[in-house]
Amino acid sequence: MFDFTSDPALPKAEFYRELSLAAAALIRDEPDGVANMANLAALIAHSLPRLNWAGFYRRIGDELVLGPFIGKPACIRIPFGKGVCGTAAARSQTQLVPDVHAFPGHIACDAASRSELVVPVLRAGHVIAVLDLDSPDLARFDHEDAMGLKALARIIADRI
Ligand code: SME
Repeated sequence: MFDFTSDPALPKAEFYRELSLAAAALIRDEPDGVANMANLAALIAHSLPRLNWAGFYRRIGDELVLGPFIGKPACIRIPFGKGVCGTAAARSQTQLVPDVHAFPGHIACDAASRSELVVPVLRAGHVIAVLDLDSPDLARFDHEDAMGLKALARIIADRI
């Protein structure tokens, strides 16, 4: 059994260090990328408060294709450059969106989503996937969340 319980009172930087260690331990002995993405999505969804969607889109050709996630059923294919996820992938750049309604071209998969954080996962300098987190709260994510999840993305890149 894998059990990770985080202290909600921890400073965010410390919380994300612990989350990254938990993520590394979770995927260390498993080479299957789908299994690892599924467990990582579950770990994140159960560790971060105020999320309504957490999961992966994988880069396949010039599209992002839905991968393992926790949340409501979502749009399956997102062209590079479209929406928050496609923008993160096309620019190889984290997208921190405090209000999704103010993001031109945002793709609404769950009408409850109000803010979003998308972190590209890079292997050898190329985007292989994005990690997408949605929240029902406005401005749920800040710079420390982005930094913490970027660190996590680096740790998992060879295992998904
Ligand atoms: N909102 C995303 C689409 C994916 S869902 O949030 C799960 C976007 O604009 O790319």
